[in-house]
Amino acid sequence: MDLDLNILRQDLAGKFIGHPFHYYREIGSTNDEAFRLGLQGAAEGTAIFADSQNTGKGRMQRVWHSPAGVNIYTSVILRPSFDAARAPQISLAAGVAAAEMMDFYFPNQIHLKWPNDILIGGKKVCGILTQMKTSGSGIDFVVVGIGINVNSRYDQFPEDIRDIATSLSIVSGRTMAREELIIHLYENMAKWYRELAKSGFGAIREKWLSLSPMIGHRVSVGFGVETISGKAVGLGEDGSLMLCTAENGIIKVLAGDATILKRG
Ligand code: BTN
Repeated sequence: MDLDLNILRQDLAGKFIGHPFHYYREIGSTNDEAFRLGLQGAAEGTAIFADSQNTGKGRMQRVWHSPAGVNIYTSVILRPSFDAARAPQISLAAGVAAAEMMDFYFPNQIHLKWPNDILIGGKKVCGILTQMKTSGSGIDFVVVGIGINVNSRYDQFPEDIRDIATSLSIVSGRTMAREELIIHLYENMAKWYRELAKSGFGAIREKWLSLSPMIGHRVSVGFGVETISGKAVGLGEDGSLMLCTAENGIIKVLAGDATILKRG
Protein backbone atom coordinates (compact mmCIF):
# COMPACT_ATOMS: atom_id res chain seq x y z
CA MET A 1 0.00 0.00 0.00
CA ASP A 2 1.22 3.53 -0.80
CA LEU A 3 2.32 5.78 2.02
CA ASP A 4 -0.22 8.50 2.77
CA LEU A 5 1.92 11.60 2.41
CA ASN A 6 -0.92 13.90 3.50
CA ILE A 7 -1.03 12.30 6.94
CA LEU A 8 2.74 12.68 7.20
CA ARG A 9 2.70 16.30 5.98
CA GLN A 10 0.03 17.22 8.52
CA ASP A 11 1.56 15.43 11.49
CA LEU A 12 5.16 16.34 10.87
CA ALA A 13 4.58 20.06 10.20
CA GLY A 14 6.75 22.07 12.58
CA LYS A 15 8.25 18.99 14.25
CA PHE A 16 11.94 18.87 15.15
CA ILE A 17 12.51 15.63 13.23
CA GLY A 18 10.65 15.13 9.96
CA HIS A 19 10.18 18.76 9.00
CA PRO A 20 11.13 19.09 6.27
CA PHE A 21 10.95 15.59 4.86
CA HIS A 22 11.87 14.32 1.41
CA TYR A 23 9.97 11.34 0.06
CA TYR A 24 11.09 9.08 -2.79
CA ARG A 25 9.06 6.28 -4.28
CA GLU A 26 12.33 4.59 -5.21
CA ILE A 27 15.90 5.49 -4.33
CA GLY A 28 19.37 3.93 -4.13
CA SER A 29 19.84 4.46 -0.40
CA THR A 30 18.17 7.04 1.87
CA ASN A 31 21.50 7.28 3.76
CA ASP A 32 23.34 8.28 0.58
CA GLU A 33 20.68 10.88 -0.20
CA ALA A 34 20.74 12.23 3.37
CA PHE A 35 24.53 12.46 3.19
CA ARG A 36 24.28 14.38 -0.09
CA LEU A 37 21.72 16.77 1.44
CA GLY A 38 23.87 17.11 4.57
CA LEU A 39 26.82 18.22 2.45
CA GLN A 40 24.54 20.81 0.86
CA GLY A 41 23.74 22.21 4.31
CA ALA A 42 20.31 20.64 4.96
CA ALA A 43 18.90 21.63 8.35
CA GLU A 44 19.07 19.44 11.44
CA GLY A 45 15.99 17.25 11.65
CA THR A 46 15.58 16.88 7.88
CA ALA A 47 14.25 13.39 7.16
CA ILE A 48 14.38 11.30 4.03
CA PHE A 49 12.21 8.30 3.51
CA ALA A 50 11.56 6.02 0.60
CA ASP A 51 9.11 3.35 -0.39
CA SER A 52 11.89 1.16 -1.76
CA GLN A 53 15.69 1.16 -2.02
CA ASN A 54 17.71 -0.38 -4.84
CA THR A 55 21.01 -0.31 -2.99
CA GLY A 56 19.95 -0.24 0.68
CA LYS A 57 23.04 -0.39 2.88
CA GLY A 58 23.51 -2.37 6.07
CA ARG A 59 26.35 -2.41 8.61
CA MET A 60 29.65 -4.10 7.74
CA GLN A 61 29.13 -3.49 3.98
CA ARG A 62 26.03 -5.66 3.92
CA VAL A 63 22.97 -5.13 1.73
CA TRP A 64 19.69 -4.04 3.35
CA HIS A 65 16.98 -5.75 1.36
CA SER A 66 14.34 -3.07 0.71
CA PRO A 67 11.19 -4.27 -1.11
CA ALA A 68 8.58 -1.69 -2.17
CA GLY A 69 5.40 -0.71 -0.35
CA VAL A 70 5.84 -2.62 2.88
CA ASN A 71 8.58 -1.32 5.16
CA ILE A 72 10.19 1.81 6.57
CA TYR A 73 13.47 3.07 5.10
CA THR A 74 14.40 6.41 6.56
CA SER A 75 17.43 8.58 7.28
CA VAL A 76 17.59 11.65 9.50
CA ILE A 77 20.20 14.42 9.47
CA LEU A 78 21.42 15.61 12.88
CA ARG A 79 23.97 18.33 13.65
CA PRO A 80 25.02 17.80 17.27
CA SER A 81 27.57 20.14 18.79
CA PHE A 82 29.44 17.19 20.33
CA ASP A 83 32.88 15.81 19.92
CA ALA A 84 33.00 13.17 17.15
CA ALA A 85 33.96 10.54 19.75
CA ARG A 86 30.37 10.74 21.06
CA ALA A 87 28.80 9.76 17.73
CA PRO A 88 28.10 6.14 18.85
CA GLN A 89 25.89 7.61 21.60
CA ILE A 90 23.66 9.10 18.90
CA SER A 91 23.35 5.72 17.24
CA LEU A 92 22.44 4.04 20.54
CA ALA A 93 19.93 6.83 21.29
CA ALA A 94 18.31 6.11 17.91
CA GLY A 95 18.21 2.41 18.77
CA VAL A 96 16.48 3.20 22.05
CA ALA A 97 14.02 5.50 20.22
CA ALA A 98 13.12 2.85 17.65
CA ALA A 99 12.93 0.02 20.21
CA GLU A 100 10.74 2.09 22.53
CA MET A 101 8.42 2.88 19.63
CA MET A 102 8.03 -0.83 18.79
CA ASP A 103 7.72 -1.78 22.46
CA PHE A 104 4.58 0.39 22.56
CA TYR A 105 2.89 -1.94 20.03
CA PHE A 106 4.59 -5.15 21.19
CA PRO A 107 5.06 -4.73 24.94
CA ASN A 108 7.98 -6.68 26.43
CA GLN A 109 8.74 -8.42 23.13
CA ILE A 110 11.35 -6.03 21.74
CA HIS A 111 15.04 -6.47 22.49
CA LEU A 112 18.18 -4.57 21.59
CA LYS A 113 21.25 -6.51 20.52
CA TRP A 114 24.53 -4.61 20.60
CA PRO A 115 25.33 -2.46 18.87
CA ASN A 116 22.01 -1.62 17.37
CA ASP A 117 19.94 -4.50 16.09
CA ILE A 118 16.34 -4.63 17.21
CA LEU A 119 14.87 -8.09 17.62
CA ILE A 120 11.40 -9.45 18.16
CA GLY A 121 11.04 -13.09 19.10
CA GLY A 122 14.82 -13.34 18.70
CA LYS A 123 14.71 -12.31 15.02
CA LYS A 124 15.88 -9.06 13.53
CA VAL A 125 13.14 -6.56 12.74
CA CYS A 126 15.11 -3.32 12.56
CA GLY A 127 18.65 -2.19 11.77
CA ILE A 128 20.42 1.13 12.16
CA LEU A 129 23.30 2.48 10.10
CA THR A 130 24.86 5.74 11.29
CA GLN A 131 27.29 7.69 9.14
CA MET A 132 29.07 10.89 9.99
CA LYS A 133 30.85 13.85 8.44
CA THR A 134 33.37 15.25 10.88
CA SER A 135 34.72 18.76 11.12
CA GLY A 136 38.02 18.76 13.00
CA SER A 137 37.36 16.85 16.22
CA GLY A 138 33.68 17.83 16.03
CA ILE A 139 30.72 16.68 13.97
CA ASP A 140 29.49 18.49 10.87
CA PHE A 141 26.48 16.17 10.60
CA VAL A 142 25.36 12.66 11.36
CA VAL A 143 23.03 10.59 9.20
CA VAL A 144 20.99 8.08 11.18
CA GLY A 145 19.51 5.48 8.84
CA ILE A 146 16.80 3.18 10.13
CA GLY A 147 15.21 0.24 8.37
CA ILE A 148 12.16 -1.40 9.95
CA ASN A 149 10.56 -4.54 8.55
CA VAL A 150 6.93 -3.58 9.02
CA ASN A 151 4.71 -5.48 6.61
CA SER A 152 7.08 -7.65 4.60
CA ARG A 153 6.04 -11.27 4.18
CA TYR A 154 8.25 -14.27 4.90
CA ASP A 155 8.68 -14.99 1.18
CA GLN A 156 9.89 -11.41 0.58
CA PHE A 157 13.07 -12.00 2.60
CA PRO A 158 16.08 -13.40 0.75
CA GLU A 159 16.39 -17.11 1.58
CA ASP A 160 19.64 -16.71 3.49
CA ILE A 161 18.04 -14.46 6.13
CA ARG A 162 14.58 -16.06 6.43
CA ASP A 163 15.54 -17.79 9.68
CA ILE A 164 17.03 -14.73 11.33
CA ALA A 165 14.80 -11.87 10.14
CA THR A 166 11.15 -11.08 10.62
CA SER A 167 8.63 -8.25 10.29
CA LEU A 168 6.13 -6.71 12.67
CA SER A 169 3.24 -8.05 10.59
CA ILE A 170 4.62 -11.61 10.55
CA VAL A 171 4.64 -11.46 14.35
CA SER A 172 1.26 -9.78 14.83
CA GLY A 173 -0.60 -11.29 11.89
CA ARG A 174 -1.88 -7.87 10.85
CA THR A 175 -0.82 -5.07 8.53
CA MET A 176 0.46 -1.99 10.32
CA ALA A 177 0.14 1.65 9.20
CA ARG A 178 3.64 2.81 8.34
CA GLU A 179 2.66 6.50 8.66
CA GLU A 180 1.80 6.09 12.35
CA LEU A 181 5.05 4.25 13.02
CA ILE A 182 7.16 6.88 11.22
CA ILE A 183 5.54 9.73 13.19
CA HIS A 184 6.02 7.86 16.46
CA LEU A 185 9.63 7.00 15.56
CA TYR A 186 10.56 10.61 14.79
CA GLU A 187 8.93 11.80 18.04
CA ASN A 188 10.96 9.29 20.03
CA MET A 189 14.14 10.20 18.19
CA ALA A 190 13.62 13.87 19.01
CA LYS A 191 12.97 13.00 22.67
CA TRP A 192 16.09 10.85 23.14
CA TYR A 193 18.34 13.13 21.09
CA ARG A 194 17.30 16.11 23.24
CA GLU A 195 17.93 14.05 26.35
CA LEU A 196 21.42 13.23 25.07
CA ALA A 197 22.20 16.86 24.26
CA LYS A 198 20.85 18.16 27.57
CA SER A 199 21.83 15.54 30.13
CA GLY A 200 24.35 13.23 28.49
CA PHE A 201 24.33 9.49 27.94
CA GLY A 202 23.14 8.23 31.36
CA ALA A 203 19.40 7.81 30.76
CA ILE A 204 19.98 6.38 27.28
CA ARG A 205 22.41 3.80 28.63
CA GLU A 206 19.89 2.85 31.33
CA LYS A 207 17.04 2.48 28.84
CA TRP A 208 19.29 0.57 26.43
CA LEU A 209 20.28 -1.85 29.17
CA SER A 210 16.66 -2.34 30.21
CA LEU A 211 15.79 -3.36 26.64
CA SER A 212 18.77 -5.65 26.13
CA PRO A 213 19.04 -9.23 27.33
CA MET A 214 22.81 -9.34 26.76
CA ILE A 215 24.17 -7.98 30.00
CA GLY A 216 25.21 -10.71 32.44
CA HIS A 217 25.35 -13.32 29.69
CA ARG A 218 28.26 -14.84 27.81
CA VAL A 219 28.47 -13.38 24.34
CA SER A 220 30.77 -13.66 21.37
CA VAL A 221 31.49 -10.69 19.14
CA GLY A 222 32.68 -11.31 15.60
CA PHE A 223 34.46 -8.77 13.48
CA GLY A 224 35.70 -10.13 10.15
CA VAL A 225 37.64 -13.29 10.96
CA GLU A 226 38.18 -12.36 14.62
CA THR A 227 35.91 -13.39 17.46
CA ILE A 228 36.09 -12.31 21.09
CA SER A 229 34.07 -14.01 23.82
CA GLY A 230 33.30 -12.97 27.34
CA LYS A 231 30.56 -12.03 29.76
CA ALA A 232 28.81 -8.80 28.77
CA VAL A 233 29.07 -6.49 31.77
CA GLY A 234 28.05 -3.06 30.50
CA LEU A 235 27.90 -0.35 27.92
CA GLY A 236 30.78 2.14 27.83
CA GLU A 237 30.39 5.91 27.57
CA ASP A 238 31.81 5.55 24.04
CA GLY A 239 29.04 3.09 23.08
CA SER A 240 31.35 0.09 23.41
CA LEU A 241 30.24 -3.29 24.73
CA MET A 242 32.23 -4.10 27.85
CA LEU A 243 33.21 -7.75 28.08
CA CYS A 244 34.80 -9.54 30.99
CA THR A 245 37.20 -12.01 29.37
CA ALA A 246 39.15 -14.86 30.99
CA GLU A 247 42.41 -13.77 29.32
CA ASN A 248 42.39 -9.98 29.58
CA GLY A 249 39.83 -9.00 32.21
CA ILE A 250 37.42 -6.24 31.18
CA ILE A 251 37.83 -5.09 27.61
CA LYS A 252 35.87 -2.68 25.44
CA VAL A 253 34.59 -3.86 22.07
CA LEU A 254 33.92 -1.03 19.66
CA ALA A 255 32.51 -2.81 16.59
CA GLY A 256 31.25 -6.19 15.50
CA ASP A 257 28.25 -8.52 15.59
CA ALA A 258 27.33 -9.90 18.97
CA THR A 259 25.64 -13.22 19.73
CA ILE A 260 24.48 -14.48 23.12
CA LEU A 261 26.23 -17.80 23.74
CA LYS A 262 24.22 -19.12 26.64
CA ARG A 263 21.88 -17.92 29.31
CA GLY A 264 23.06 -17.96 32.84
C1 BTN B 1 22.04 -3.02 9.69
O1 BTN B 1 22.87 -3.63 9.00
O2 BTN B 1 21.49 -3.58 10.64
C2 BTN B 1 21.70 -1.60 9.38
C3 BTN B 1 20.59 -1.48 8.36
C4 BTN B 1 20.19 -0.06 8.06
C5 BTN B 1 19.18 0.01 6.95
C6 BTN B 1 18.65 1.40 6.76
S1 BTN B 1 17.27 1.45 5.65
C7 BTN B 1 17.33 3.18 5.63
C8 BTN B 1 18.79 3.56 5.58
N1 BTN B 1 19.28 3.59 4.22
C9 BTN B 1 20.19 2.63 4.00
O3 BTN B 1 20.76 2.42 2.91
N2 BTN B 1 20.41 1.92 5.12
C10 BTN B 1 19.62 2.43 6.23
